[in-house]
Amino acid sequence: MSPQNKIDRAGWFEGSGADCTPDAGSAGRSWRLVLLGAPGVGKGTQAECLNKRLGACHLSTGDLFRDAEHRDAGHQSPAMAQAMESMHHGALVSDTTVWELVRERGDCLRCSAGFLLDGFPRTLAQAEQLKAYLEGEKVPLTAVLDYEMPVDEIVKRLSGRRICEKCHSVFHVTWRPPKVAGVCDVCGGRLQQREDDQPSSISIRLEAYRHSTAPLIQYYKDLNLLVSIDANGPPEDVCARTLAALESRVK
Ligand code: AP5
Repeated sequence: MSPQNKIDRAGWFEGSGADCTPDAGSAGRSWRLVLLGAPGVGKGTQAECLNKRLGACHLSTGDLFRDAEHRDAGHQSPAMAQAMESMHHGALVSDTTVWELVRERGDCLRCSAGFLLDGFPRTLAQAEQLKAYLEGEKVPLTAVLDYEMPVDEIVKRLSGRRICEKCHSVFHVTWRPPKVAGVCDVCGGRLQQREDDQPSSISIRLEAYRHSTAPLIQYYKDLNLLVSIDANGPPEDVCARTLAALESRVK
């Protein structure tokens, strides 16, 4: 995520009434996409690329929680404090808390620039809530992108990830190293490891994915929205594969 992206996502981070400057959708089309896939498969990295190519905003619930934690340090509601504790351990935040936050940002779901939902929905209950909301607003999903990769590769991506503590840009010690070790290329901030990228949290997250999120693959297949994408290879190859799959779907 670059600082510019963050400004463009003001509505997502600050809620309705924020001064948001979304890009126009590509070729007049509003892309409304859900990005599915295990933790660390590269959803955030792909969202960054798709945002540049399709103009749709990157709406990540994980980023939202991390931002809220940073912003509200010391003034969190009990529900938010519980959400942060779950997140640090790698467990899912309750459906009620997640939906409350997403619903407050309904403007982003109705935005003419479209959206790239990353990390939401993550349970069948959340998927049903989203479906009912979008039907009510008459803004149907374009597709659900399911990124697929073997678990051992996923663990390598997660354990090598480093995040800028200031602007949240994402790096990888091997595959996307910063120019200067430990320093963000974008803003000069310090790079750190996410608390939930420790081995003990990674296994809890992968289990939560298998148990709660993987059933969404069949759910979206039944709705004829699922597009499976091979997430192996360099980010730009995965992005090109995604764009080609989307193009053939909307033809
Ligand atoms: P969230 O932030 O959504 O985490 P996640 O789903 O676990 O996804 P990640 O951000 O870890 O991975 P990613 O797929 O985006 O991979 P990335 O692009 O960074 O959620 C965090 C927590 O919040 C959850 O555990 C939960 O507690 C809570 N939460 C959020 N939403 C919730 C919800 N709806 N319900 C309940 N709880 C919720 O890539 C990973 C690394 O790999 C990076 O270092 C990157 O540089 C590298 N990389 C990426 N692509 C490639 C490539 N093609 N080749 C080589 N390296 C690559």
